[in-house]
Amino acid sequence: MTNVIDGDAVAAEIRSDLEASVETLTDAGARPGLATVLMSDDPASETYVSMKQNDCEEVGIESVHVELDEDAPAEELYDTVEELNRDPDVHGILVQMPLVDQVDERRVLRTVAPEKDVDAFHPENVGRLVAGDARFKPCTPHGIQKLLEHEGVETEGAEAVVVGRSNIVGKPMANLFVQKGPFGNATTTVCHSRTADLAAHTREADIVVAAAGVPELIDGSMLKEGATVVDVGVNRVDADTEKGYELVGDVEFESAKEVAGTITPVPGGVGPMTRAMLLYNTVKAASRQEGVDVTLP
Ligand code: GUN
Repeated sequence: MTNVIDGDAVAAEIRSDLEASVETLTDAGARPGLATVLMSDDPASETYVSMKQNDCEEVGIESVHVELDEDAPAEELYDTVEELNRDPDVHGILVQMPLVDQVDERRVLRTVAPEKDVDAFHPENVGRLVAGDARFKPCTPHGIQKLLEHEGVETEGAEAVVVGRSNIVGKPMANLFVQKGPFGNATTTVCHSRTADLAAHTREADIVVAAAGVPELIDGSMLKEGATVVDVGVNRVDADTEKGYELVGDVEFESAKEVAGTITPVPGGVGPMTRAMLLYNTVKAASRQEGVDVTLP
């Protein structure tokens, strides 16, 4: 029987474990605060941000939301981030991506104070991660490590194939997999849109992380029997549903499930874990900034 991972359940466990730390901080007068910044009318981004706010509320984290007009000058966004950097009640700052065209994304990432950079996208934090001295682990790859841990999937000595080379998922995932330490020590290959023979790589993999943003790119014929398959894709494809679309992953679930030993569904796999690890990083940020020790799950 294939093990279909229940990401919602694992994420709920992490949120529940975080509640005690939030309470410790709050009792010490240091309630963790997360600021979300949205400068886009993209409905998917609006949904993600509102889910992140609900998660904060559930565990007792204070959430501040700043919404900027899509057409506002870029300076408004840079100024907003700087204001949040100075706000002592805000311990974590998340600027929802993708950004509108007039904004220089690299400038935004550099503007977030590294201590409040709960996405871990600031170049200083990217560098620290690569050097094996992460201040924060990026939420999606960290969430995937937690899922593997929960399901008892060992990465040490495993052949891991990461499909996709984004700064948000593919590159940091590969960096975590090659680090010495728990849920690292994997022999790691990064495949991407220019890889000559994707299936030749994925068929050798004990662990496949699909993060290319291509609907159903990977099917069962491309997998090794018993492999662990982690699907990061969230692709909206046209469908005859009430909303006019359905969500599909980067993995063709039905055929992959026949071959995989363990697999994540879409939705309900990686997505909720990303959000849980954002809360984790916010609690960690507050604990450090306020000098109040807490235990993290
Ligand atoms: N857009 C899609 N994923 C993410 C994420 O992890 N963080 C931010 N800030 N934006 C995103």
